Amino acid sequence: MILSCLHDVRLILVTSLAFFCAGMVKASPTLPPHGARSRPAEFPVVDVPSHLNPYPDKPRLTFSSSGTFKLTVFSDLHYGENPWDDWGPQQDANSTRLMRSVLAAEKPDYVVLNGDLITGENTFRENSTTLIDCTVVPLNEAKIPFSSTQGNHDNQRNITHLEEIQREQLDSYLSYTRTAPPGIGGEGGEGTYWVPVYEKATDLTPALILWFFDSRGGWSPGPTSAPLPDWVDATVAEWIKHETAVMEAGWDSVEKRERGALAFVHIPPHAIESVQKTLNTTVNPGLNADTLAQGSTQATADPSSAGNDQPFWDALNANIKNLHAVISGHDHGNEWCAREPSKDVIFCFDKHSGYGGYSSPGWGYGVRNIIFTSADPASGLETWILLEGGQTRARVTLDKNYDR
Ligand SMILES: *[C@@H]1O[C@H](CO)[C@@H](O)[C@H](O)[C@H]1NC(C)=O
Ligand SMILES: *[C@@H]1O[C@H](CO)[C@@H](O)[C@H](O)[C@H]1NC(C)=O
Ligand SMILES: *[C@@H]1O[C@H](CO)[C@@H](O)[C@H](O)[C@H]1NC(C)=O
Ligand SMILES: *[C@@H]1O[C@H](CO)[C@@H](O)[C@H](O)[C@H]1NC(C)=O
Repeated sequence: MILSCLHDVRLILVTSLAFFCAGMVKASPTLPPHGARSRPAEFPVVDVPSHLNPYPDKPRLTFSSSGTFKLTVFSDLHYGENPWDDWGPQQDANSTRLMRSVLAAEKPDYVVLNGDLITGENTFRENSTTLIDCTVVPLNEAKIPFSSTQGNHDNQRNITHLEEIQREQLDSYLSYTRTAPPGIGGEGGEGTYWVPVYEKATDLTPALILWFFDSRGGWSPGPTSAPLPDWVDATVAEWIKHETAVMEAGWDSVEKRERGALAFVHIPPHAIESVQKTLNTTVNPGLNADTLAQGSTQATADPSSAGNDQPFWDALNANIKNLHAVISGHDHGNEWCAREPSKDVIFCFDKHSGYGGYSSPGWGYGVRNIIFTSADPASGLETWILLEGGQTRARVTLDKNYDR
């Protein structure tokens, strides 16, 4: 029973996990996370609507005392390929090794799992969510708060985004993943939410909002499985307008301060496809080995859906102020950042982190690191690719002058 990534009673439910997350020790997910500091008890409770305090039972995420906030993004982990063969479980053991070594070396304040946590096509109805336990183990061990988006491979006949989110929430107190309100996100698109980050634990209002959007895709569950739309649903555009209005009304009445923002969505917005044609390796360094085509960006799997991610893309850029960047995975051979000219917004690819999922010799496996060196939303941030062996590349400073 020591060889399990499960916490307490659920051990009984999924003992087979011992074989799948082999070598993973039980970790307590109940300790306060690294990077998260509790609000002092004596601090006066400020009357902001409860809606603006979405994590009343979790520590507040804050910048460090020296004013930094560091994120590490694991993307496209693709756990669970061919469990009936040797190579699938070996890939997963490698992915877990990568997560552990990166977390130990980088000690980020927050981790994002940016979609395709598992390869749902290869999973079984009765135990597919046990793979989520495996993705959470290294985070529980390192005690680092995190949240996830879900990808097209996370919606399949035997698994759904909602099932993954609920399992993750059960697995870890450190998970800040939430679901969108009822009616928002469309079928298979529940993983849309935001996470506030405060400069200091005692601050009245946050300095940074992390936004997470569900770009759906994949297949609906069950025997009558059908393709799901591969774009962020138009209802999310309305939700963005609503949330930003509530934030402005609630927070700005308490304290007038600008907030920064960073957005994560698994499948890149369609507007990114044309950006690839104008890359300059000096300004936009990093692997550029995946030519964006049908299926690479939102609303392209079915040509008749062209333009369907536009309401989301418009609302995101019109309503979320001080948006530092939009960050996606999905295309494993791309690592670059570039400015999207029509919205004047920076886009970055992640780094393929999982040994599962498609790859090519020389691409390697790693993460995208992001560091804020100030809570001032006018100041830029630094980002770079870190490979499993420790090599770094494609370091850029994302600020108002980047890629003009
Ligand atoms: C696991 O990682 C090792 C060391 O990098 C590598 O040699 C091996 O091919 C990987 N195995 C799989 C199945 O990905
Ligand atoms: C889904 O799960 C069922 C039950 O374990 C299994 O028979 C089937 O092969 C799985 N995969 C798909 C794609 O249906
Ligand atoms: C899930 O169940 C299938 C079929 O019983 C088995 O082959 C597979 O190894 C199990 N996977 C996990 C992650 O427990
Ligand atoms: C790429 O950008 C660098 C730095 O701004 C510039 O010097 C160079 O001329 C650009 N290359 C091309 C082909 O535009």
